[in-house]
Amino acid sequence: MYKAAIIGAGAISSLHLQALAEMKEIEAVAIADIDEKRATDASAQHHIRAYTDYRHMVDIERPDIVVITLPHNLHKDCAIWCARSGCHILLEKPMAIYAYECDDILQAANDSRVKLMVGHTQHYFAENMIAKKIVQSGQLGKLVMINDVRHVDYYAASRPNWFFESARSGGGIAMNLGSHAVDKIQWLTDSKVAQVKASVSHYGAKGDVEGSVTAFVKTDQGVPCTISQSGYGGVHRDETEIIFTQGMLKLRTGVGLWISEAGEYRQLEAVQAAPPFVLQYRDLLGSIRTDTIPECSGEYSKSVIAAVQAMYASHRSGQEVVVQQQ
Ligand SMILES: NC(=O)c1ccc[n+]([C@@H]2O[C@H](COP(=O)([O-])OP(=O)(O)OC[C@H]3O[C@@H](n4cnc5c(N)ncnc54)[C@H](O)[C@@H]3O)[C@@H](O)[C@H]2O)c1
Repeated sequence: MYKAAIIGAGAISSLHLQALAEMKEIEAVAIADIDEKRATDASAQHHIRAYTDYRHMVDIERPDIVVITLPHNLHKDCAIWCARSGCHILLEKPMAIYAYECDDILQAANDSRVKLMVGHTQHYFAENMIAKKIVQSGQLGKLVMINDVRHVDYYAASRPNWFFESARSGGGIAMNLGSHAVDKIQWLTDSKVAQVKASVSHYGAKGDVEGSVTAFVKTDQGVPCTISQSGYGGVHRDETEIIFTQGMLKLRTGVGLWISEAGEYRQLEAVQAAPPFVLQYRDLLGSIRTDTIPECSGEYSKSVIAAVQAMYASHRSGQEVVVQQQ
């Protein structure tokens, strides 16, 4: 049985704890948060120990795995410290704010011979997995384009303030949700984003981060894609259209997948074998047990950060940016 400790008792930590509760192979033993009440609330709910200092927790508990669910500016230092303490790491997305920070994390994980996986949850939704298989099969002909649209109320009162402070979040909707879009496109197409032309807007009622991003990206296989995300008021939408020479897919992650047939969309069956977060932990376990690199590796996740940073660079310069992927 592997012991896991959670660092950060915020919104996403509860999904991790629920997933761990379903797993026989990993047991959550402790949680740390600088907000003592959050730590003790999670401790009471999940029958695990609470700490206010994650270093102290790791020193005492000696977990096999740490799950880092902190604001983005803390990912690097925490992941490096945990790697040096000998813990395998599930680090929430985005891996860090800058690609050079990802390099430092990778170095620490490699030096300490621990597994590092980033929480790119898109890989674990049933409809996404089926969409990827269809893309790979070529059954709808040649992939022509992907259009990824997301509209959320990014300024909802429930969102913690650090998301609106660029010093802590590294950016707004493009960093936070754009990283999901980039990951989805790269993973569906087995490629990396190679070129980006993007524009962001700053019309949000609070903070100093962007509230929308419009990006034209091209993969290294030459597939053109658009990413269109708005966090301002309106109607929720999360839809990816995957267009081929002989048909189309409509993907709504967490909802369903549709395939074009005689000019209409027909829904495909997509059975979720286990909750996405459980599948994510199974991947991490597999990589630990077989001493292999997980699919959502640090190297892969760095490529997502490089593409997001290219969006910001393109907005600043007004030019198309070639993404430094290496
Ligand atoms: N995979 C997904 O779909 C998904 C969804 C939501 C969030 N996330 C990611 O998860 C991470 C956390 O997001 P969240 O929504 O849970 O944020 P949150 O603000 O709800 O939680 C972060 C927690 O970290 C705590 N914290 C801050 N500094 C700390 C420190 N030094 N030591 C210990 N605890 C500290 C805060 O008190 C807070 O409770 C982010 O990287 C976010 O992008 C991923």
